[in-house]
Amino acid sequence: MFDLIVKGGTLPDGRVADIGITGARVTAIGNLQEADAGEVIDVSGDLVSPPFVDPHFHLDATLSYGTPRVNASGTLLEGIGLWGELKEIVTQEEMVSRALEYCDWAASMGLLAIRSHVDTCDDRLLGVAAMLEVRDKVKGYIDLQLVAFPQDGFYRDPTARDNTMRALDMGVDVVGGIPHFERTMADGAASVRELCELAAARGLPVDMHCDETDDPHSRHIETLAYEAQRLGLQGRVAGSHLTSMHSMDNYYVSKLLPLMAEAGVAAIPNPLINIMLQGRHDTFPKRRGLTRVKEMQAQGITVGWGQDCVLDPWYSLGTADMLDVAFMGLHVAQMSHPDEMRRCFDMVTTQNARILGLEGYGLHVGAQASLVVLDAGDPVEALRLRPARLAVVSKGRVIAKTPRQDASLALPGRPATIRRRHRQGG
Ligand code: FE2
Repeated sequence: MFDLIVKGGTLPDGRVADIGITGARVTAIGNLQEADAGEVIDVSGDLVSPPFVDPHFHLDATLSYGTPRVNASGTLLEGIGLWGELKEIVTQEEMVSRALEYCDWAASMGLLAIRSHVDTCDDRLLGVAAMLEVRDKVKGYIDLQLVAFPQDGFYRDPTARDNTMRALDMGVDVVGGIPHFERTMADGAASVRELCELAAARGLPVDMHCDETDDPHSRHIETLAYEAQRLGLQGRVAGSHLTSMHSMDNYYVSKLLPLMAEAGVAAIPNPLINIMLQGRHDTFPKRRGLTRVKEMQAQGITVGWGQDCVLDPWYSLGTADMLDVAFMGLHVAQMSHPDEMRRCFDMVTTQNARILGLEGYGLHVGAQASLVVLDAGDPVEALRLRPARLAVVSKGRVIAKTPRQDASLALPGRPATIRRRHRQGG
C-alpha cells in the first residue's frame, strides 16, 4: 500500500515507470497497481525527474532589484557597492519576507535544494539571522544550505574575519570566501588557506567565490585545489564562478585541471550572471567570461550550473527556473550535442545534488520522495521548452501544480489547440 503513486512517467534515462511513495520515501519503482495507492497522479508521457538543485544563490539579496537604485554600469563591482548601500537600510523582516517569496517560486518550479551564500560583513549579522530563520521555515519542503560569505573580503573588511566565525558558530553550514576581492593576490591566497584550515578544523565543506574576474592572472583556484589536497578535503570543496579560467593561458590550464581533479574540487559556473557581468571592460572582441565547462568535465571534474542571482543588485531578471540557467549555459559553453544537452540537465539535477552532498537524492527505492513532473518528453525537450512543472512532490507531499500551457489557434484549416512538444510519449 502506497500513499501516492506517480504513474506512467518517463524518467530522465528514458525508462517508463510508476513510482510508489510511502511517507517521505520512494518505496517501489516499476509496474504498480493503482488500487494499492491512497492517491494516484497519472503522468503518462510526461518527464519525471528528481528535483532541481541550485548550488549557488544569494537569498539575502534576492527580489531587492531597484532598491535603493539599479546597477547603472552593470558591473560586479557596482553591484557589490549597491549591495553595501542596501545593507545599510534593509531590515531582517524584509530579508525573510523576500527570501520566503523566492522559496515559493522555487518550490513551484521543482527547485527543492538551494545552497545560498549569506553575507557575513555586517556586525549585526542580520542577514545570517534572517537566513537561519528562513532555513528553518522552509525545511519541510526545501533543503537550504547556507555559506558564510565575507562579501567585502575576509581580510579587506576589518570585522569580516570575526563575523564569519560568529556566523559559523550560529549554525551556517559551509565556509565561503572571495579571494579575488582581497587587497592583493597574496592576501587572496592567504584567505583561501585560512578558510580551508577553518573548514578542516570544523569538519565543514568549502564553497568560495573564486576568480570571478576577467584577469587571466587571477589564480586562486590553484591555491584552493592545493589546500583541498593538502588538508584532505577532497569531495568537500567547490570553486564558484572561476571566470578567469576563460582568459587564462592554455598551457597553464592544461596543468591546472588535473590538479583540480586530483584535489576533488568541484566547479560551479553561473552562466546567466557570468555572461551578463564578465567582459564589461572589453571592447571587441568581447569575452564570454564563462569558465571551461566541457574541458573540466573531460578531466573528470564535477561541474554544476548555478543560478547566483534573481532580481538583485547584480541581475535584473530571473525566475527560479534552473532550466533557464542550463539553457543559457549550454549556449555559452556550446554544449549543443544531444549528449551534452542531456549532461546540462544532469548538471542542474544530479551533479548539483552531488556537489551539495544531498542524502537520498534521486529516483530509486529508498530515496527521498521528491520529484518534479514536466510537460516534456525527455530532458532535451525540457531544455528547449522550459515547460510547466505539472506537479512537484517534496518529501512525499504534492506541494505545487501548474496547468499545461497549450495555445488556442483561430486559423482556418489549422488545429484549434497547439502544443509545442515535438515528441509526445505515452
Ligand atoms: Fe555569487
